Amino acid sequence: MDAQALENEAKSAISGAKTLAELDDSRVRYLGRKSELKQALREVRDPETGRVLNTLREELELAIEEQEAALRGADLEQRLAEERVDVTLPTRATQRGHLHLITQIRREVEDVFLGLGYTIVDGDEVEDTWHLFDALNMPPGHVTRSPLHTLFLNGDIVLRTETSASQIRVMEGQDPPVFIVSLGRVYRRDTADATHTPIFHQCEGLAVASGITLADLKGTLLQLAQVLFGEDRRVRFMTDFFPFTEPSLQAAVSCFLCEGAGCSVCKETGWIEMGGSGLVDPNVLRNVGYDPEDVSGFAFGLGLERIAMLRHGIPDMRDLWQNDLRLLRQF
Ligand code: DAH
Repeated sequence: MDAQALENEAKSAISGAKTLAELDDSRVRYLGRKSELKQALREVRDPETGRVLNTLREELELAIEEQEAALRGADLEQRLAEERVDVTLPTRATQRGHLHLITQIRREVEDVFLGLGYTIVDGDEVEDTWHLFDALNMPPGHVTRSPLHTLFLNGDIVLRTETSASQIRVMEGQDPPVFIVSLGRVYRRDTADATHTPIFHQCEGLAVASGITLADLKGTLLQLAQVLFGEDRRVRFMTDFFPFTEPSLQAAVSCFLCEGAGCSVCKETGWIEMGGSGLVDPNVLRNVGYDPEDVSGFAFGLGLERIAMLRHGIPDMRDLWQNDLRLLRQF
């Protein structure tokens, strides 16, 4: 056997192996039990030949080991290259939801009053007739106390028809000064039509301190109107009646569409009704233990659906409740 020739042949086969499988073939061929080298080793007679052949075996084993390491390294490199994830690629756009228009307006109104130093209170949707009616100066025969208007749950427990009951709850629980707004759902026994739904949202505001006047009310509503409907808005009052205010006033805001010239939104008057308001009736102050000689206050109530409909030209109040995404996505 020509050891030198075998070494050359085996080494070039090993270093030429391009895959682990090819390398394995070479291992069997040059170092396997039936290989020329192993056979020669078994037949060795003199120590010199034995030493040469053993050295050759060790060299080939080492060469195979090195080639194997090289091949595995290359394999890893290739997989890393092929399986690389490009984290800079744009993702598939996920559809994000957003707040319902009524919730957006609720938060806008809350922001205005937080900015004015008011506290936001959560009123209860289930009320008793003392807080919803009696304490608000509505006598037993008052028309809204009829089961035709109000949803009675049990005895004198009702679903609130207005957020004004939170006035009473807050004043019962603290001394003046009071500066609160309370926003939430109210319930009325109404048939749904373009301008009514049996559930809707109101914002009730109340300020009680010494020396509060209608001028404070007007300035406050003006601030709100300008945030909701634009900086150039003006506010005007017309007389009205509510049992819990004296005097009672209907507040109107100058039309944001025609700037007061007259259009279909303001019904050609140049003014849009904002909500009810007035100075808190002395009876209401007395009902909660306040002294009307010491303190005075103003209150107002607004419908959030109405603000949404006016500002965004939504013709039918029911649209806000039908959850048609084609409508809601626009806001
Ligand atoms: N509670 C009245 C309603 O639901 C709105 C209202 C008017 C609230 C005048 C007030 C107010 O606080 O002073 O129609």
